[in-house]
Amino acid sequence: MEQASNSHTTPQLEMDKIPAHVAIIMDGNGRWATRQHLPRIAGHKAGMNTVKKIAIAASDLGIKVLTLYAFSTENWKRPESEVSYLMKLPIRFFNTFVPNLVKHNVRVMVMGHIDGLPAATQKAVKKAMADTAECDGMILNFALNYGGRDELVCAMKSIAQSVKDGEISPRQVDEQLIDQHLMTAPLGSASDPDLLIRTSGEERVSNFLLWQIAYSELVFVDQAWPDFDGDSLRAAISTFQHRHRRFGGLVNK
Ligand code: IPE
Ligand code: IPE
Ligand code: MG
Repeated sequence: MEQASNSHTTPQLEMDKIPAHVAIIMDGNGRWATRQHLPRIAGHKAGMNTVKKIAIAASDLGIKVLTLYAFSTENWKRPESEVSYLMKLPIRFFNTFVPNLVKHNVRVMVMGHIDGLPAATQKAVKKAMADTAECDGMILNFALNYGGRDELVCAMKSIAQSVKDGEISPRQVDEQLIDQHLMTAPLGSASDPDLLIRTSGEERVSNFLLWQIAYSELVFVDQAWPDFDGDSLRAAISTFQHRHRRFGGLVNK
């Protein structure tokens, strides 16, 4: 896979070709902290500040949906102390940052099993969604307690139940119906990311948006998430703009 440009100069972007939906696997917080002889949670705290910066930078660029992978269904395997810190971060983030999001007309959405989060985290998440419900600019979509396989299992269960109840016949199951049963359904036509970025040098998907990334452009950057900034985002978008998306067809230029 091609690496995003590490150039320090800000690349020229074609503003009429900004990807509508950018998804980011925010990885490398722990290693960033360890490299500085800090506890892993210091990396998560720094990562939260990057979320603030990137949310505003993305909104300023005209991105319609920014989906951030914040906690996976597999991240519960981590030590209790780290999980507990990660569960408190959204509370801190929303308590301090929602007014800024409203100022930028950014709407917060959250996908994943909200019911499985601690009560205080659920409360903060629901309040942030309610407080920004009227914003009609960028959607800042957090994947929290989210797993792509888990999402597909839920969709299949729900479709199977509809068939069993006689609401639909098996021949009505098509791609559109599956889309409607996924956690990205509220995003409508922007449900599939155009660009998927993963930080920290890892080149894997780690159970993120398995169905929706069928034709996403993948960009892997070496920077750890706390070091990712507006220039890194612009560099990744520039890389995206130099790709030729074919969707199985032929390039029309
Ligand atoms: C990403 O950073 C944040 C979450 C997965 C919650 P990591 O915590 O995975 O950091 P590394 O990959 O161990 O460096
Ligand atoms: C993916 O990162 C999950 C999030 C960024 C929330 P991980 O650090 O959990 O992924 P693996 O374990 O390296 O695959
Ligand atoms: Mg990681």
